[in-house]
Amino acid sequence: MQLVATIADTRKLTQQARRDGRCIGFVPTMGALHEGHASLIRAARRDTDFVVVSIFVNPTQFGPNEDYQRYPRTPEADWALCRQEGVDLVFNPSVEEMYPAGFCTWVEVTGLQDVLCGRSRPGHFRGVATVVLKLFNIVQPDIAYFGQKDAQQARIIRQLVRDLNLPVEIRVCPIVRAADGLALSSRNAYLTPQERHRATVLYRALQTAQKLVSQGERDALLVRQRLVELISATPGATLDYAEIVDPETLRPVTQITQPVLAALAVRIGSTRLIDNMILTPPDAEHQMDGTDQSDMEGGRDS
Ligand code: PAF
Repeated sequence: MQLVATIADTRKLTQQARRDGRCIGFVPTMGALHEGHASLIRAARRDTDFVVVSIFVNPTQFGPNEDYQRYPRTPEADWALCRQEGVDLVFNPSVEEMYPAGFCTWVEVTGLQDVLCGRSRPGHFRGVATVVLKLFNIVQPDIAYFGQKDAQQARIIRQLVRDLNLPVEIRVCPIVRAADGLALSSRNAYLTPQERHRATVLYRALQTAQKLVSQGERDALLVRQRLVELISATPGATLDYAEIVDPETLRPVTQITQPVLAALAVRIGSTRLIDNMILTPPDAEHQMDGTDQSDMEGGRDS
């Protein structure tokens, strides 16, 4: 495994891999890697011949009062996981390498960036879209892997790829959960044991919503209300949002007649957690399972 910190070295190595006829898989991360990241790396390992992981805590996607400074940074453990999972190249740049003095170009995916998490995290998806486009330009992958846990992020990246004709295929992989259902997240490290226990309410609430829909409930407002009630009844949990939205437009729906995205953001103590689930009414089970969606604009001649 090669570990590099510069854009020039990353370019050199990925261009060589391309010249050797290898298909390049890319997993962008902010480090503090866990089994969720490992599942993306394994998917890339399975599908492609040269796997690149970027580790970069991207300052531009954090608001002024957010957790940029305290975001977990575990470089040695991350490199070890990458080595163990057979990653070929880790790109671990500095902030100066990614955002040199004078940087002033931003990418906005309007319409999709200001709803759900974008409402309480203004500027977040502008930072994500900008850094992901930069990383795609640096690595030039054939296939890039994202987790369904960040459903809005994945939807925004798919739109970015489509709108800007980027020659990369986006694969969205299923949420990886702990045994008690909590979606794996680097931010789970912030939780005290008591908060960690309370945090399972997100998954339990989503399961309840899925059950209602499976039993034939079509009223999205009622299902949303149930999510709100379950979160509100949990001590130490503060709801940021609970929404039932169209998975493509991310706009609220009123009737559940096709698969919808139930999305939650909840503060457990001071830690903001997100989770989601595709709710599929019984008569629409063939339509979509919410995972492994891919989108490709153009294609790459290798
Ligand atoms: O999902 C993440 O870890 C980040 O938002 C990403 C895609 C690596 C961009 O910084």
